[in-house]
Order: sequence, then C-alpha cells, then structure tokens
Amino acid sequence: MIFETHAHYDDEAFDIDRDELLEGFPGKGIGYVVNIGSEVGSVDKVLALADKYPFVYATVGVHPSSTAELNEEVFAWIKEKAKHPKNLAIGEIGLDYYWDTPDRPVQKKWFERQMELAGELSLPLVIHSRDAANDTYHMLKEARADELGAIIHCFGYGVEQARQYLNMDFYLGIGGVVTFTNGKKLKEVVEYAPLEKLVLETDSPYLSPVPHRGKRNTSLNLTYVAQEIARIKQVDYETVLRVTGENAKRFYRL
Ligand code: NI
Repeated sequence: MIFETHAHYDDEAFDIDRDELLEGFPGKGIGYVVNIGSEVGSVDKVLALADKYPFVYATVGVHPSSTAELNEEVFAWIKEKAKHPKNLAIGEIGLDYYWDTPDRPVQKKWFERQMELAGELSLPLVIHSRDAANDTYHMLKEARADELGAIIHCFGYGVEQARQYLNMDFYLGIGGVVTFTNGKKLKEVVEYAPLEKLVLETDSPYLSPVPHRGKRNTSLNLTYVAQEIARIKQVDYETVLRVTGENAKRFYRL
C-alpha cells in the first residue's frame, strides 16, 4: 500500500480523466492520497475531492508564489475552510525565492500568518521552500513549528539543511527527483536521513520520475520513487512502502 503525501489532482492537467484515474487507485495499490492546496482557487476543489473519495484527503493553504491573492477577508474565509474534517494540514505554505514573486516581505507575512493559523487549529504544516533555506528555517524556528510538525515537501536542499530540519523532527518529502541522474544531492539526503523521517510524494502533475520524466505525473509513479529509495538505503521495496506509510499516517494523524 502506497501513501501519496502530496499531489495536485485539482490541476487542469487532470481535467480529461480525473475521476477515472482516482477511481482506479485503490485497485492499483494507492491507499491514501493527500491533495494539497496551492492557490485560493484550489481550496474548494481540494475539499470537494476529499468529500468525493474516502481515500482522498486535503490540505488547505496558499503557496508562497500565490500569496498576492491574500487579504484579511480572504484569509478569514480560508480559516473557516480549514476546519473541514478531511483537511489534515495547512499547506503548501513557505517561501519561494526561485520565482521570487510577490516581494519577499509579502511571502513572509503570509507564511507567518498561515503558520499562526495552523497553531490555532492544531494542524501540522506542509512546507514549500525553494532557494530560501535560511529564511525558511529561521521562520519555522521562530514560529515554533517543531510543536506542530512539518513535511518539507519536495526536499531540494543538501545534507546540512536536512540535518537542521531532522533536528526539528520534521519529515522530508521525497519525489521523482530522486530518480534523476542529476539528483545526486537528493540521493545523498536519502542515504543520510532515517527511513522513519521520509515520506513519498509526487507533486503530480509535476516532476515525473525516470522513466516517465517530462510527462504528466500521477501517484502510480511512486513505485519508481520507492524502488530508488530501497536501492539507496539497501532495504526491501515493501519495507519502504510500509515505513513511509506509517510515517505519513503519524504525521497526518490518520
Ligand atoms: Ni506541490
């Protein structure tokens, strides 16, 4: 049984076959899917998918690159939506200095506010952090995020940063990049981190693993990610599925 911790099935890339695809998952070894909120417009969509499928859950949050959409009124609406019984976390939230828009003070303000919201609702965090390792780490420390728990989604930093996050007892989200020939840095992180702190994720429709790199990604491709983790850590494939599944259930409190 595979636990998919991070996908975006509300994305238009799935408009042609969303229901057909999702309906097929339980018969193909996908036990759980957490559909991650990213924009204000995705909130109702991720909750509707969670309502429709028993094995699909949601997170509510606004990705740093979309934080220009936020204001007090919208934020109050999001807070109410986040109380949905199948909302498991606040995310994906964080900092993105790769795209670097909107301005960093705007990204930081709403990252902080959304962490506060998680604290109010006693929910863990799904973190997006790109080219912003230091600021993300310091803001998480400042917000005492270790008391809430977090997945650092699509972990893209090195062993040194992994050590910092593991010291805060966070989980690292591992996806298709680990299968890339130029994914050496992530392979090192996987080798370094305990299996008990790794979770499987696709970020579908993005970041398909080898041999489907460049094509639309789906949770079915997590087999390739789990096989590569098994190879790196020299454990059985089944052990990778079992332990990462237990980790995800512990994190998402299922
Ligand atoms: Ni994502």
